[in-house]
Amino acid sequence: MSDILVHTEAGVTTLTFNRVDKKNSITSSMYAALADALDAARDDAAVRCVLIQGDATIFSAGNDIGDFLNKPPSTQDSPVFRFLRGIAAFPKPVVAAVCGPAVGIGTTLLFHCDLVYAGDNAAFSMPFVNLGLCPEAASSLLVPQMFGYHRAAEALLLGEPFMAEAALEVGLVNRVLPPTECNAYAQQQARKLAAKPLSALIETKRLLKKTQTAAVVERMDEEGASFGRMLREPAAREAFTAFMEKRRSDFSKV
Ligand code: COA
Repeated sequence: MSDILVHTEAGVTTLTFNRVDKKNSITSSMYAALADALDAARDDAAVRCVLIQGDATIFSAGNDIGDFLNKPPSTQDSPVFRFLRGIAAFPKPVVAAVCGPAVGIGTTLLFHCDLVYAGDNAAFSMPFVNLGLCPEAASSLLVPQMFGYHRAAEALLLGEPFMAEAALEVGLVNRVLPPTECNAYAQQQARKLAAKPLSALIETKRLLKKTQTAAVVERMDEEGASFGRMLREPAAREAFTAFMEKRRSDFSKV
C-alpha cells in the first residue's frame, strides 16, 4: 500500500496520508507522489477540486526526520520544494481535513489551501526554531498576515502547539468538527465545489490570491535557501539526532 493514496471521484482528487505508524511523517518519495498527483489534478479537466486528509487521529508529523538527517533536500528541484511550489500555485480549490497533530509542513501547507476543516483534536505546530530551522512554505509571510504579528511570533518563535479552537479564532480553520466526521464533511464541501463551473472557480481563486502571488514565491525561495543551509548546521543536526535517539535536544554547545 502506498504512503500517499490518490483517489478521484465526483470531480474531487483526494490525497490521503497513509503512513500512520510513523504519524504520517512525509518522506521525499511522498513529496514526489504529492507533487505528481497535484500536477495530474491540475491538468485533468475532470478534476475540479483537491482534498488533502489524514485519518481521525493524525494529519501529519511533518517532514520525516530521518530523511532530514540522512538525505536533506539539496536543490530547489527536490521533491519537497516541487510539492510546495505545486500547492502554492495550484489553480483549482484545495480543501484540507485536519485531525490530530499537524506539525511543521503539516501546518504550513494549510496556508496554501482554500478551505480547512479540523477535528476538535487537531493540534497545529510550527516548531522550526526548536529544530534549529527557520520557517518554510512562505509561512514567515503568511502566518503574520493571518494571525497578526504577535500571535505569529508566538507560533513561530516558541513553536508550541495550538488547538483547533485557537486555529478557528485566528482564521486558519473554517470549522471544527468531531474527528470522526471531519473527512466526510470536508469531502462533502469539496464535492460542492466540484459541482461548480471550473472557469469561475479558477478565476475567483486567482483574483483572491493575486495580491500575494509573487511575494509568496519570492519568500518561499528565500526561506528555502536558509532552510537548506540550516538543515546541515549543528543545531538542526543535534535536534534530529535527539529525536531519533528519543532524548531532549541539548543546544548548549551549538
Ligand atoms: N519523522 C520520522 N518519524 C516520526 C516523525 C517524524 N517527523 N514523527 C513521528 N515519527 C515516528 C516516531 O519516531 C515513532 O516511530 P517508532 O514507533 O518507530 O518509534 C512513531 O512515528 C510514533 O511517534 P510518537 O512520537 O511515538 O507518537 P506520539 O503520538 O507520541 O507523538 C507527534 C506524535 C507527532 C506529536 C510526535 O511524533 C512528534 O512530535 N513528531 C515530530 C514532529 C516534528 O518535529 N516534525 C518535523 C517538523 S519540521
